[in-house]
Amino acid sequence: MKIGRVTISDRASAGICEDLSGPAIEESLRDLPPGAHEFVSRLVADTEPGIADALLDLADREHCELIVTTGGTGPSLRDVTPEATRQVLEKELPGFGEIMRRESFAITPTAILSRAIAGIRGRSLIVNLPGNPKAVRECLRILSPAIVEGTRHLREG
Ligand code: MTE
Repeated sequence: MKIGRVTISDRASAGICEDLSGPAIEESLRDLPPGAHEFVSRLVADTEPGIADALLDLADREHCELIVTTGGTGPSLRDVTPEATRQVLEKELPGFGEIMRRESFAITPTAILSRAIAGIRGRSLIVNLPGNPKAVRECLRILSPAIVEGTRHLREG
């Protein structure tokens, strides 16, 4: 499966800090069925046009079956990942955000602060995750079964 991963961070994109969340996506998805994944990575600042462009590039030009973002889902003024994602989605899948927050809340009460969304553009499944490696691992553990099934539906239908 071709998988796009997008790290959304002003600081990491400016080279002020290292991107640890993007690699955590790869590590968490490496063994996702059906296996043998190719990863395409992007690192962008917290701006709506920049995020939307990266998503369009990965969906429409790179034809990634799955696109996972990390960061920019919180309540801060600069957090605009859900808004940029909504711009490019054709259909939303509200269950991803609902279950991610409900299950994460049992581990980390601040999970309620994430506004992450998910949905479909063409044959690409796009999923937002919060922006730290621990959250990436926790959320992908919760969402992996739905990601496998969702991408299978998009491949076959
Ligand atoms: N979800 C999980 N599973 N684990 C976490 O550590 N961090 C929360 C939340 N969701 C967290 C989580 C915090 S502290 C914030 S502010 C929001 O995600 C938004 O993070 P983001 O703005 O980096 O996307």
